[in-house]
Amino acid sequence: MFNLATLYNWFHNYYCNFYSSDPDIMNMVRLKEHHSVMVAKYARGLAESIGLSAEEIDLAEIIGLLHDIARSEQAHCKTFNDSISFDHGDRGVLRLEEAGILDALDCESQEIILFSIKYHNKMTVPSSNPDKMLFTSIIRDADKLDIFRNLPPVRAEHNYSPALVELLRKGRVLPYSEVKTTADKRLIRLGWLYDINYQWTLAQLINESYASELVRSLPNAPPFDEIKDNFRAYIIAKLSANP
Ligand SMILES: [Fe+2]
Repeated sequence: MFNLATLYNWFHNYYCNFYSSDPDIMNMVRLKEHHSVMVAKYARGLAESIGLSAEEIDLAEIIGLLHDIARSEQAHCKTFNDSISFDHGDRGVLRLEEAGILDALDCESQEIILFSIKYHNKMTVPSSNPDKMLFTSIIRDADKLDIFRNLPPVRAEHNYSPALVELLRKGRVLPYSEVKTTADKRLIRLGWLYDINYQWTLAQLINESYASELVRSLPNAPPFDEIKDNFRAYIIAKLSANP
């Protein structure tokens, strides 16, 4: 395993290349640089909580730090919306390969890192070998934890897209492409909570009231009653299951 301090230096220097005199771009670059450092920390904490080895814990931290490497250039598009710029998971893999920063690692670790980064932002993850699935699950949780901690509340009337409401009622994955209104973002966030892999992550999101605030923000009328009941049952089952 290579030196983590060296990687943090490389990462900071890489991001510095995208610093800008445009304050909007600069804020976006700094936001993602900071987010990456926080996600690295959470990925490490999560990996420790599930009893991984010291080397695996380092691997989780590396993936956390590098998962949004392509957000630096995406900030220059003045959007973090992949559908109108580029897929930042795929682009991140490309940039890391070009930079050769992972070359000092063994092939298996490189493959795990690149797979996890490629799929950290996809709606679903194609099944692969257990190690790739493990580290992809870790980065997806660590990423969501930091995102929830920094999201502003959704301020909107109850104007929801029926297609998304129906998908949520059935417990299906919600495609971001179906978001048509500001209020729909509440549904997407609830969908993210269904996509949490580990009790470690879910417990923090519950303790910090993100889940209860989301549930409270939905209407007290059909079909939202059913959506809330299903969600509460999911939380109880997930937190009481064997980790
Ligand atoms: Fe990302």
